[in-house]
Amino acid sequence: MRILTTAAIALALSAPVLAAPPAKPARLGLCAACHGEDGMAKIPGAPNLAGQKLDYLREALRQYRDGRRDIPVMRAATGPLTDAELDQLAQWYSALTPRAPQ
Ligand code: HEC
Repeated sequence: MRILTTAAIALALSAPVLAAPPAKPARLGLCAACHGEDGMAKIPGAPNLAGQKLDYLREALRQYRDGRRDIPVMRAATGPLTDAELDQLAQWYSALTPRAPQ
């Protein structure tokens, strides 16, 4: 009985965390034409982002914005964005489940 109670409490505490996907970022429209809202690439040459590691995405986006990765399309897309906006986008794409390539 005590085990069941403990399990029920643990479930109740964890449920809201599991049930809360990140809110759709306001700037997602800057990225969707090439990477999709679903993180699956929409044009040749663009990478899939769904499910990529959060820390990797955060760092990659700062590198493009700051010119340490000198790719014109990505510099243009990230140029006007703040750290907080880049982090929202990284969290969004990282939380998505990748689909099999089509
Ligand atoms: C015009 C098309 C285009 C747009 C718009 C665009 N991207 Fe990209 N993105 C690319 C291409 C092409 C690459 C590959 C660049 C390279 O070779 O480094 C890329 C690379 C990336 C990468 C690196 C992936 C990796 O595996 O290293 C991330 C992260 C990324 N984009 C996120 C975004 C986000 C977030 C936005 C919106 C703010 C965005 N992109 C807008 C085309 C685009």
